Amino acid sequence: MSDVTHITVIGAGTMGSGIALTAAMAGIKVCQVDVSQDQLDRARGYHEKTAARNVAKERMTQSQADEMLAGIGYATETCMAGESQFAIEAATENKGLKKKIFASMVETFSNDCILATNTSSISITSIADQVGSAADRVIGMHFFNPVPVMKLVEVIKCPATSQTTLDRTMELGEAMGKTPIAANDHPGFVSNRVLMPMINEAFHAWNDGVAEPEAIDGIMKLGCAFPMGPLRLADLIGLDVCRDIMLVLHEGLGHPNKYAPCPKLVELVEAGRLGNKTSWGVYDYRQAAATA
Ligand code: CAA
Repeated sequence: MSDVTHITVIGAGTMGSGIALTAAMAGIKVCQVDVSQDQLDRARGYHEKTAARNVAKERMTQSQADEMLAGIGYATETCMAGESQFAIEAATENKGLKKKIFASMVETFSNDCILATNTSSISITSIADQVGSAADRVIGMHFFNPVPVMKLVEVIKCPATSQTTLDRTMELGEAMGKTPIAANDHPGFVSNRVLMPMINEAFHAWNDGVAEPEAIDGIMKLGCAFPMGPLRLADLIGLDVCRDIMLVLHEGLGHPNKYAPCPKLVELVEAGRLGNKTSWGVYDYRQAAATA
């Protein structure tokens, strides 16, 4: 049973706003922080839209939705820092930035606040190295997109993570309606060590002319009972994120070619085709975005 009543979520992008919403829906008070007011406004809009959908679908009453939304604070610096029992960092997937954020988190939050990161591939050990004697409170809490829908939270402990931190993180994951599963701190953890090479291979299949994206996705979706094909999933995740995770596997696992990002994936990223977030990746969503 989790005793967590207040959390701070740092970063209001796709993952951070999803984590904040999921916690608020579980009755936890949330401070959603981002340096960008525009990003905070987008997060608030997403929270309001999803709450309205839940009311329309009779999953919650209007007063429950109002109470849930009132429980989320939006701030460009911090709010509820003293009360937060967890601070979950979900900023851009950039090692330098995350290290900087963790160095400041240890100053901002109380001495027993757990310092979690939603990183999809950056070493938890390297992040824990930034916080000195608070390293026992550092842990990976890796959610999946779309956060309110996906059941898993992959919990990653590093050698410094204490048992109390692990136990409390597993409890918070359950309180948020997720199934937490623990893994150790290795490049890509479990999820991306297995998923990303498959996505990368789908790009190779396309690059090699085995089939066009629609056929590759259709074959994998129907043949393997996936909810969406690997190239469509790459668009959902973000092609830049996929490339960056492949680079982490490439550098961390030591095989010369096995994990190198496919040239086709790199080419699309360099052309600015990042997937859903730019309305164009493997697939073109620009017309749908213009009429939405
Ligand atoms: N926020 C909240 N709810 C959302 C949502 C979002 N962003 N996206 C979809 N939903 C909800 C919809 O509102 C809908 O709910 P209702 O019951 O109210 O209708 C429900 O999810 C189903 O959505 P749709 O009907 O639009 O579409 P669908 O049935 O095709 O499901 C999907 C969409 C849930 C995304 C499904 O295709 C799916 O599960 N895809 C695979 C996603 C996946 O593998 N994610 C993991 C990516 S890896 C990752 O995130 C980690 C990493 O490190 C890279």
